[in-house]
This record gives sequence, structure tokens and C-alpha cells, in this order.
Amino acid sequence: MNEKIISAALSLLLITACQPATEDLVASETSAYRSGPTNVFLSAKGLGNLQESNAYLTAVGANPLTYTLAEWKRTNLGAAPVVTSLYQNLTELGFWREMTCSRGIGRGAGGCAVTNWTAPNEPARGVANQGTVAMTLSREGVVQFYVFLPDGKISPTAILDQEGPKFAPRLCIVCHSGNASNPGVKTDFGSIFREFDPSALREPPGVPRAEAEAEWRALNRVAQDANRLVRGEAEGAPAGTDHARESLIDRINVVYLSGTEPVPDSWSADGAVTVNLWKGLVAPYCMACHRHNALDFRLYPRFQFLKRQANLAKYLPFGPPSDTQAMPQAARSFDLLSRDTVAKAAVDAWLRGPACVAGQPCSLSQLAESGLTRR
Ligand code: HEC
Ligand code: HEC
Repeated sequence: MNEKIISAALSLLLITACQPATEDLVASETSAYRSGPTNVFLSAKGLGNLQESNAYLTAVGANPLTYTLAEWKRTNLGAAPVVTSLYQNLTELGFWREMTCSRGIGRGAGGCAVTNWTAPNEPARGVANQGTVAMTLSREGVVQFYVFLPDGKISPTAILDQEGPKFAPRLCIVCHSGNASNPGVKTDFGSIFREFDPSALREPPGVPRAEAEAEWRALNRVAQDANRLVRGEAEGAPAGTDHARESLIDRINVVYLSGTEPVPDSWSADGAVTVNLWKGLVAPYCMACHRHNALDFRLYPRFQFLKRQANLAKYLPFGPPSDTQAMPQAARSFDLLSRDTVAKAAVDAWLRGPACVAGQPCSLSQLAESGLTRR
């Protein structure tokens, strides 16, 4: 509780100091959501604290007082060939991102680092960046997370939305999958490398789309190969790792094999209203995280319980604020959704339908009791 209050106060302070330039970012209404910049977003895996973050950094070999991005690059990239791209992530983060990955990532070799900017011309203008985040695979095949301040010093927190700094690695695993019960001691959360989804990315002005897509294809190959080397449950990884890994490998295949993801059978079997919900809400706003995390929405019965007492609405930006966790968990997506009238109509139509279907789980606890469970 204390921790929450301190974090909220800290965010308030930093928000006034570090309000991102709005030039290229959608103006955010989310900091006013639920009366103030509390940690509504990117908090589903807990808020963490300084001690925990520092213990994690120490455990992964990064001295929390002295480690730098220069050292990270020397160790993990060195003179090896790299794949790079500058693009904007339109759906989850909003930043312009300068991505560098080693051409191959092995266990204990290579990695990716991405520097965030608010506009595409900033890297060339010598403007201060918004920080750098990085990932490696340990010798054991465990994904490791690092955050660096604009000046290159290691940091326990990252600022990825208007709510202000939040502690890594918990912050990271909201989108990169995994569970962190005690990150300073047990550093394998079952996390994965994320896909470069062309439909979510924008190329910088002056760069031909085809050229940018070729870069993302190369980055996807790196991410996919890295995920194949993430240690699985048979090697001692936590439950959920195999599912997350396979979901991401599959996702990257789908991006290139068919472009758009087909409506899953269990969703289409429920009829047009449910298909519209998949297309209007779930695919564009939920699946970025809910294909690899503990609640894989590709199976409709894992979603259906949200109809009961209109529970779905309590997470979304359409109705009055509630105590429920905000979904989507990324402020950027939440903002976009709040303006999306097609998504809202799909939600309203779905919630008007019959609440519970005989033989189907009707609440989160029933879901747990049914053979389906999470995942
Ligand atoms: C809101 C969701 C979100 C959060 C939170 C997040 N990431 Fe990511 N990250 C992504 C997405 C999506 C990609 C794929 C590339 C892109 O779209 O920019 C990615 C890609 C990356 C990559 C390139 C390798 C890869 O996975 O493809 C690194 C490195 C990275 N993130 C580090 C971090 C670290 C470290 C943190 C925590 C401080 C973090 N990220 C938190 C969404 C997120
Ligand atoms: C940026 C990532 C992200 C996005 C996007 C996202 N979620 Fe989530 N969601 C999470 C995480 C992380 C959890 C915790 C899951 C776990 O237990 O591992 C979660 C949990 C949930 C839960 C269970 C909450 C509980 O009480 O246990 C529901 C319901 C949910 N999400 C609905 C949605 C819906 C609906 C959408 C799309 C409108 C959505 N989410 C989009 C990250 C996300």
C-alpha cells in the first residue's frame, strides 16, 4: 500500500518534469483516468520496488550503481553484425524506436537494445532520447531485461507512459510475458521476445515502406530464432514458458504466411456478434498480450466469462471508471480504444447477448475449475 502511494507521488512529480512531447503521440487522457496518475497501466504484474529491481540487476550481472549501456553494447554486441530499424510503434507504446539487434542471438551471446524517441528526426538532431531498454538471453536460455537512462546509466525504472517511472523487470513482463514472484532470486520468469508486427508499425518519413518492412522481417527472424532458444519447461523454466514461446513463434509465422490472423474457430462458432467482437476489440486491442500471457483469448471460452454482469465493460475505457484493472494494460492502446466507436458498438452488442451458456464457464473461478483454466 505504502509502495503504491510512494509510486503514485513519484509519478506525479516526474510527470510535470518529463511530459513527453505530444508532436507525434496521441494526446493522452489516461493520466486523468480514475482521477489521477496512479499505476493503472503496466501494473498487472505488480509494482515492484527499488530493492527488488536492484537485486534483479545484480543477479543478471549488471551492477545497479555502475553498469552502462556502453558496457552492455561492448559485451553483447561487440563488433558482431547487427540488424537495425527506426520505426514508430503505433499501438502499444507510441514511441519512435531505434532498434538494434545482433544478427543472431544465442544463449549468452548477442541481444537487442532499443532507444525511444518522441519524433523520427530526433536521433539526427542530437536531442536527448527517452531512454533505452535492452534484452539478452542468458547462458541458460533465460530472457534478461535492462533499462538505461537517456545518459546511458543503468536504471531500476523505465518511463513508458504518462504515469511515470515503473520498476523493471515487472513492467517489462506485462508485454513480454512471464511471472515474477521474487525477481531478485528467481530470474527466470518465462519471458519471450516480441514480434515486429508491420500492421502496428510506421516507417519514418522518406523511408520507403518496402525498405522498412525488409528491416522488420530481419528483426522478426532474430526474435523468432531467439525465442526458439529460450529455455523451456523441460529445462526447468516456469509453467507458461512453453505456451508463450510457441505463441510467439506461431504469431511471427502468421504475420508472414497470411498477413491477418484468421478468426479462431471457437469465436466464429458463436456467431456474427462474437466474430465482430473478435475483429473490433479482441484482435486489435487484446491479443498483443493475450496470446502469450496466462489468459490466451484465442479460445473463446477463456473470454466468455467477461459477459457475466457485463464484467468486460469494467476493464474498458467506455464506461465509468471502476476498481478493476484497466485493459488494455498499455496506456497507448487504452487511449486508442477510448476513441474507437466500432469497437464500442461491438462490445455493446456482445454484452446485450445471453450472459451464460449452459456448460460453459461463466466466471473466472469457474474457468479455473473447468479443464480449461488459464492458458
Ligand atoms: C507496452 C508493452 C511493452 C512493454 C511494457 C515493454 N515492451 Fe519491449 N517490446 C514491446 C513490443 C511490442 C516489441 C516489439 C517491437 C516493437 O513493436 O517496438 C518490444 C520489443 C522489445 C525489444 C526488442 C526485442 C524483442 O522482444 O523483439 C527489447 C530489447 C525490449 N522490448 C525491451 C523491453 C524492456 C527491457 C522492457 C521493460 C523495461 C520492455 N521491453 C517493456 C512491447 C513492450
Ligand atoms: C499490454 C498487455 C495487455 C493488453 C493489451 C491486454 N491485457 Fe489483459 N492482461 C494483461 C496481463 C499481463 C494480465 C495478467 C495475466 C496473468 O495473470 O498473467 C491481464 C489480465 C487480464 C484479465 C484477468 C484479470 C484478472 O482479474 O485476473 C482480463 C479479464 C483481461 N486481461 C482482459 C483484457 C482485455 C479484454 C483486453 C483487450 C481489450 C486486454 N486484457 C488487453 C495484459 C494485457
